[in-house]
Amino acid sequence: MSEPIGFQPPPYPYDRLDDLRSAADELPGGAVDLSIGTPYDPPPPAVVAALGSSDAERGYPASVGSPAFRAAAAGWLERRFGVTLDPAHLAACVGSKELVAGLPHWLRLRTPGRDTVLYPQISYPSYAMGATLAGCRAVPYAALADISSDDAGRALCVWVNSPANPTGELDDLGAAASWGRAHGVPVLSDECYIEFTWQGPGRTIVAEGAEGVVAVHSLSKRSNLAGARAGFYAGDPDLVSYLSEVRKHAGLMVPGPVQAAAVAAFGDDRHVDEQRERYRRRLGLLAAALAAIDVECPVPDGAFYLWVPAPGGDAWALARRLATEAGAVVSPGEFYGPAGADHVRIAVVQPDDRLELVARRLGVTVGDLPHGAASSA
Ligand SMILES: Cc1ncc(COP(=O)(O)O)c(C=O)c1O
Repeated sequence: MSEPIGFQPPPYPYDRLDDLRSAADELPGGAVDLSIGTPYDPPPPAVVAALGSSDAERGYPASVGSPAFRAAAAGWLERRFGVTLDPAHLAACVGSKELVAGLPHWLRLRTPGRDTVLYPQISYPSYAMGATLAGCRAVPYAALADISSDDAGRALCVWVNSPANPTGELDDLGAAASWGRAHGVPVLSDECYIEFTWQGPGRTIVAEGAEGVVAVHSLSKRSNLAGARAGFYAGDPDLVSYLSEVRKHAGLMVPGPVQAAAVAAFGDDRHVDEQRERYRRRLGLLAAALAAIDVECPVPDGAFYLWVPAPGGDAWALARRLATEAGAVVSPGEFYGPAGADHVRIAVVQPDDRLELVARRLGVTVGDLPHGAASSA
């Protein structure tokens, strides 16, 4: 009898761009990779210095985060977003992706009678992958109001993401918290772009009260620390305590020197304000460059992506055109769900001179473009 076929990891989305990358590289000056939302700007020097001087290499770090880490994270939430949280009700994660991908598994262990993960139909792919890796159903939703009572009754959790990757939209987090409480479904709010909110102040779901909600934060985008791997989750005391106990058993720990660097990063806002200005300027620059070739896209309400409707709905054609004519590697929207297949996503992460090169290749005189054209906060 042959073995049943088990899980086969699908191709990693960004590996599917190798052809576009090669085409873009043919241009003088090479490819400008705008496909992945990875920071290129430097983290603050004091944060890098803390990595090398913490003396925290020898012993095992606390899985939940050191007292200094938890106090710094809680202090940041209070200072920046006006939310007071007991540091005991937050815990460290190794960047947010491992938490996003691992959470359904741990929630399922706790509640084996439920088997469904709900997530926005156009979204960061790891919400669905986390469900798959836990052997659960991944069920996308267009709006919370559309979720069937059967799916809600089977749900381990519902993900929201505000500001959203890739669309830049802002959610009504109060409505999300209420929906979760009304249906007895934990609401997991991925807020890794909170500092890059362009319309009004950044919002966190824990401002709606902690019951039944968990906010997920990361220093990857805020402080250009994606390579260091530091984030935290915060909210419902019961959920945070359960998750942090499970994660302790699983051996998940943010390295001690990284925790020390995180304390420095959470304590400083100036570098974030500088980074905000960079992204706003770049969003405006690229939106204007695209408009010059008759590709219109809105400047988003948050995050650092342009979510661009492809002419004729053909996202791969637009991605190929941008690679061959502008040397820009961008992501077809299908990476974020079938409902996004008629868009491309452009991450404005590269330095200004590289984005200006893209604009010039599109035939645009950079001096004529409205710098800082993004809408103001
Ligand atoms: C919506 C969203 N959540 C989570 C992550 C993961 O970030 P990290 O694991 O670096 O914290 C990303 C990264 O692009 C993202 O876009």
